[in-house]
Amino acid sequence: MRIIFILTVVFVIGITATIFAELDHVLTVNLDKMGPQISPTLFGIFIEDINHGVTGGLYSDLVKNSAFEYSNPIDGWSLSTYGSNVSVQVASKTSISINKINPNYLSIEISQNGEWVEISNSGYNGIPLEIGESYILSLYARTQKSTSAIYVGLGTLNGKIGAENKIKNIGPVWKKYQITLTSSITSDNGQLILKFGSVGSIYLNMISLFPSKNFHDMRLDLVNMVKALNPGFVRFPGGCFVNGNTLDNAFNWKDSIGPHIDRPTTMDFWGYDQSYGIGLYEYLLLCEHLNAQPVFVINPGMSWQGSKDVQIVPLQDMRKWVQSALDLIEFADAPATSTWGSVRASLGHPKPFNLKYIEVGNENVGQDYYERFEMFQKAINAKYPKVKLIFSAGANYTGHDFDEAWKWAKNHGVDIVDEHIYASPDWFLSNTERYNSYDTNGPKVMVGEYAAQPWNSQNTLEAALAEAAFMTGLEKNSNKVVMASYAPIFNNVDYSQWVPDLIWFNNAQVYGTPSYYVQLLFSNYRGNFILQSSISNNDYTSDDNNYKRLYYVTSYDSKNKDIIVKIVNPWPSNETCQINLNGNASLTGNGQIITLTSDEPVTSNIPFRGRMNSINTFENPTHVSPTYESITNVSTSINCTLKAYSLTILEIETNGL
Ligand code: AHR
Repeated sequence: MRIIFILTVVFVIGITATIFAELDHVLTVNLDKMGPQISPTLFGIFIEDINHGVTGGLYSDLVKNSAFEYSNPIDGWSLSTYGSNVSVQVASKTSISINKINPNYLSIEISQNGEWVEISNSGYNGIPLEIGESYILSLYARTQKSTSAIYVGLGTLNGKIGAENKIKNIGPVWKKYQITLTSSITSDNGQLILKFGSVGSIYLNMISLFPSKNFHDMRLDLVNMVKALNPGFVRFPGGCFVNGNTLDNAFNWKDSIGPHIDRPTTMDFWGYDQSYGIGLYEYLLLCEHLNAQPVFVINPGMSWQGSKDVQIVPLQDMRKWVQSALDLIEFADAPATSTWGSVRASLGHPKPFNLKYIEVGNENVGQDYYERFEMFQKAINAKYPKVKLIFSAGANYTGHDFDEAWKWAKNHGVDIVDEHIYASPDWFLSNTERYNSYDTNGPKVMVGEYAAQPWNSQNTLEAALAEAAFMTGLEKNSNKVVMASYAPIFNNVDYSQWVPDLIWFNNAQVYGTPSYYVQLLFSNYRGNFILQSSISNNDYTSDDNNYKRLYYVTSYDSKNKDIIVKIVNPWPSNETCQINLNGNASLTGNGQIITLTSDEPVTSNIPFRGRMNSINTFENPTHVSPTYESITNVSTSINCTLKAYSLTILEIETNGL
């Protein structure tokens, strides 16, 4: 049934002014009914080294395999010799190695004048160079017989040189050398070149090149994209990356702190070499920069349970693992006078990071997990009662293991249960009320990973809107769901192995997917209290799915004194809606309307057969991105047209509710 209204108010840019209009919906917002409260940590992010998202991504070392410790020790390097008595190779003689963690080094021997060696590295699909930008080259070197000089240069693969310099006076003990190179060329396919021409032996290790503009060794363009999301928390460093294929390559935070030369290289769960370039300390600095709560995921003494050869630490040997969690909390949060707090202080951060959460396990299930979780729970609760523990509900969001996990969590005083949901857009559109029935007094929920996976494995507008619809349900139930983070945030498209992800990039460029913009809008336009509301004419059953015509959530941001209305129209035709603000309202008349949609034509009326495939690309990175319009003369009755396939947000200024 459509509703006919006589409109007394006329509006604003982007909002259709209609007299005697036929409206599809009326959304009634009750300004006097505030609550529940919305968790300040509701929308966060999840960072995992998958898709070379961190190694060759967030970690901004432009050199691949700096320490010659990859499975193939010369991976990433090209080695050339000129002369008959000259050699260059990776060696690991104990008497020469810099340390036990990075025993490999590059050994160069030149026995006659006029002979020389050239090595080069083009990073992860080319070193990106920008004219006028500077790059910090550092390396460890020592010589055997003579004082050597190293020629260093940046250039293109076809021989164009963009910067040159020399490192001189290399001595007989290992020492770190550092110089800055400023590029006179722009190229997305550059390389680092080093040449050696002095007679004698020279040994090299940890050859790194960082853009001088970085954030604690992190790629600035990626950090800025993350910052714009304004996340309430960061879940890191995995994912299955934490579990490890075996316990040998499970993430070990103690290996990840201190100088890079003291950090080992391991095989990433996702099948490539990773060097702990971004370790616990850098992640904590990132969280601080983002003003986000760190949520570290610690291995519970079990490797990835998807493997038939899962390794489980015997209960009697678990002390070391539990102690590692206690030490981690001490490192992150104890005063600088404590053992691990002093290590943090020595790295440059005497102030604690204010750690409030720790997750024990990722997608773990079953009795073995419960027993180990309980050991962490007892020890952490006793020593750090303010730290809340997050418990895994497994890899599935339904089924026997999932139900058992919840039963166990309820009976064992678990603070927060982590659910992971990867499903079709249809599932998300049909399950927006999933959390309505959860118990307010039970453990809280973290949806630690979720994403709509469309048929074409892309980050489409279709998927993004299905996620947006689901997020309206998360926000409405934020007294139960206290945290939610999307699937892995990064996808280096040259090494992609898992889609969907929020931020796609290559060595030189980056863009946000439609899902990125949904996250950005929900996170930045989120009140701190739900305003109760209802909508007319909203049921929509199709293909046995209980869809809604529109998905919405209304809230109040008491800091900015804004009413925030978010409405998702995931269908192929425009819907008209009158928004009535009922109750004690004192509006300023100003506001903003934000729309996320695509301008591709709607070609069909079958749900999701229109412009569902709209995506962003390097060529058109903001094809699907929000538009922002100021609005004036806003009154308590607002008519708007919700475009086909859109997320619309109205931010309505008040003088205070
Ligand atoms: O995000 C990719 C993987 O999906 C994560 O490592 C794991 O937790 C989930 O199964």
